[in-house]
Amino acid sequence: MLGNFSYKNATKLYFGEDSLKYLNDELPKYGKNVVFIYGGGSIKKNGIYDEVKKILSENGKNVVEDTGVMPNPTSDKLREGVKIAREHKADLLLAVGGGSCCDYAKAVSVSVNCGEDPWEKYFVRFDEPTCEIVPVGCVLTMAGTGSEMNAGAVITDRETRQKTGHVFGDEVMPKFSILNPRFTMSLPKRQMVAGIYDIFNHICEQYFSGEDDNVSDRLAEALMKSVIRDSLVAVEDPYNYEARSNVMWAATWALNTLISCGKTTDWMVHMLGQAAGGFTDATHGMTLAAVSLPYYRYVMPYGLRKFRRFAVEVWGVEEKGKTDEQIASDGLDAMAEWMRTIGVTMSLSELGVTDDMIEGIADATFILDGGYKILTHDEVVAILRDSL
Ligand code: NZQ
Ligand code: ZN
Repeated sequence: MLGNFSYKNATKLYFGEDSLKYLNDELPKYGKNVVFIYGGGSIKKNGIYDEVKKILSENGKNVVEDTGVMPNPTSDKLREGVKIAREHKADLLLAVGGGSCCDYAKAVSVSVNCGEDPWEKYFVRFDEPTCEIVPVGCVLTMAGTGSEMNAGAVITDRETRQKTGHVFGDEVMPKFSILNPRFTMSLPKRQMVAGIYDIFNHICEQYFSGEDDNVSDRLAEALMKSVIRDSLVAVEDPYNYEARSNVMWAATWALNTLISCGKTTDWMVHMLGQAAGGFTDATHGMTLAAVSLPYYRYVMPYGLRKFRRFAVEVWGVEEKGKTDEQIASDGLDAMAEWMRTIGVTMSLSELGVTDDMIEGIADATFILDGGYKILTHDEVVAILRDSL
């Protein structure tokens, strides 16, 4: 049975090969002062920077650049971004990049007009914004996080080694996002597959919770099947537009709250991955890939029916002559095989985690409910050790 819910999605999306031109429709809606946010320079190499700059100039915008947003944006960078946006009296924050740039823009947006320290306020105390929020627009260059159509922002504090996400309200979602699948084609393979695994895991986190057979779960299964199919094409043929466009669209739907409507969710893989990320600064999708199978194998007996269904519906596991446990376990084996085929990192050691870090990472892991088994601290330690 579906639980009660309300649903609204506040982001306007422009999708396709010619979608950047719609920036011309959006820019006039905002004042003159734009902060052009981007990362370490990939957009200068692939030409997106020049295209965006030209459109900003043709629209008569007064632009300041906020560059060097790193993967896993830090609290120090956030404070710097707030200062830049404040001094520029920003009317619009335009993020051009992956989830890191988009998340960062949202975190800046709620902090420009707020006197308190943004890390402490939003990522330690989880306060809600009470000050005026500066609008955010996004030109996405990497498919994975879903940040383009959600209200999440994840920030890392290097000093305390904490990586924390805050899911804000609708008012923090990008006002518009531009998704051109061709923009993702310059991604190195490692980043592409990290994004693909991130997508898949977002769907898993919303799927592996509850026993119901509802529309949200059915949508999740369809999305998972698409991601599996299109990822296999994309790793073989990265310039395949059909595959890359499907991956990009699946990423948006995987985390724009639709598939969690009316159901419980289990975000423990993200909690484990984020905690490991806080210690290592490793690529987000890879941290998830490293911890997910040990976690799912551990909780499988507690949610056997759903894992059995996952095996049959998503992976086409043959049921005949097998116990439910065997079917469910074959499903996770099929998932592992797919992960190896696309080439994600499947161990924390490869991401720089050493045994002496495990206790610290376990302490930094938020233990959430919603899953088939609420973990104890010792179980978190055991799963992390299993992921090494
Ligand atoms: O910085 P540049 O030079 O742009 O390079 C980036 C970066 O090094 C590069 N890249 C992006 N697009 C490219 C490209 N390189 C070549 N061509 C392109 N078209 O890829 C690298 C990774 O980019 P990043 O933005 O860090 O990756 P992603 O999109 O995976 O974002 C990761 C961040 O999002 C958070 C993660 O925790 C992490 O901090 N997440 C945000 C979520 C949300 N808002 O809901 C949910 C996710 O679960 C996730 O936690
Ligand atoms: Zn994620």
